[in-house]
Amino acid sequence: MSDNRPIGVFDSGLGGLYATAHISHLMPRENIVYLGDTARVPYGTRSRETIIGYAEDDVRFLLSKDVKMILAACGTVSSVALDKIKESSPVPTFGIVEGAVESAMKATISGRVAVIGTDATIGSGVFEKMLYARGANFVISRACPLLVPLVECGFCGRDNVVASSVCRSYLEPIKEAGVDTLILGCTHFPILYDVISDILCGVSLIDTGRVAAETVARYILQSGSGADISRGDVRYYVTDSADGFSAAAKIFVGGKKICAETVEITK
Ligand code: DGL
Repeated sequence: MSDNRPIGVFDSGLGGLYATAHISHLMPRENIVYLGDTARVPYGTRSRETIIGYAEDDVRFLLSKDVKMILAACGTVSSVALDKIKESSPVPTFGIVEGAVESAMKATISGRVAVIGTDATIGSGVFEKMLYARGANFVISRACPLLVPLVECGFCGRDNVVASSVCRSYLEPIKEAGVDTLILGCTHFPILYDVISDILCGVSLIDTGRVAAETVARYILQSGSGADISRGDVRYYVTDSADGFSAAAKIFVGGKKICAETVEITK
């Protein structure tokens, strides 16, 4: 039975836009409501309690838009708060961790896998635990908090010396560990894909934005809850000023111009 209600996607800021663009690409008929909590980004440096509180606000806002499912397109929320928001969400709610771990275990040959993410994501140990549970032999993880503001400020191209120098410094121990697969465990990081792959030649990179979009597509197909309109649209909401959002957002959506509305999501 078709369901024309929108898919709800949220992130602490702009990173989830990339997953949203992939959802639209995979399922052009779907309506999507995107929320970026730009007033409170970054989440990744905050306490578990704060992240859970923020994620609950995000979910409440999306539910007010009558969404049929929710994707937490944020590595931090997915690692720290997913169980909590699943408990309180009346619609199917997904994160990015499980799909990324499954993709990594398909990609790895040696069973040696690395994960990078925010402080909160890496501190939670969720990726490591799940990777070992799925048969990894060795896991190295590293918090890379500086990569989030770098990406939000547009320092992300292959030729950007700042981006490559910061990435090189963060990735050195991972290079030395001899892994064959790296999970980009933060939805901002796939924007640095080229920079990272230049540094870690031959290592398979797991792009959490794409994997998250595939998780959504799989659920929609399996549950038969796809939309039956000819073309869906995407509505963008942010919690800080929408001025300047379009310019910053372009990096995440392949240069497309998008407009957002500012909303208040706290009670
Ligand atoms: N999008 C967030 C994540 O995937 C990163 C930004 C933040 O720290 O809020 O973890």
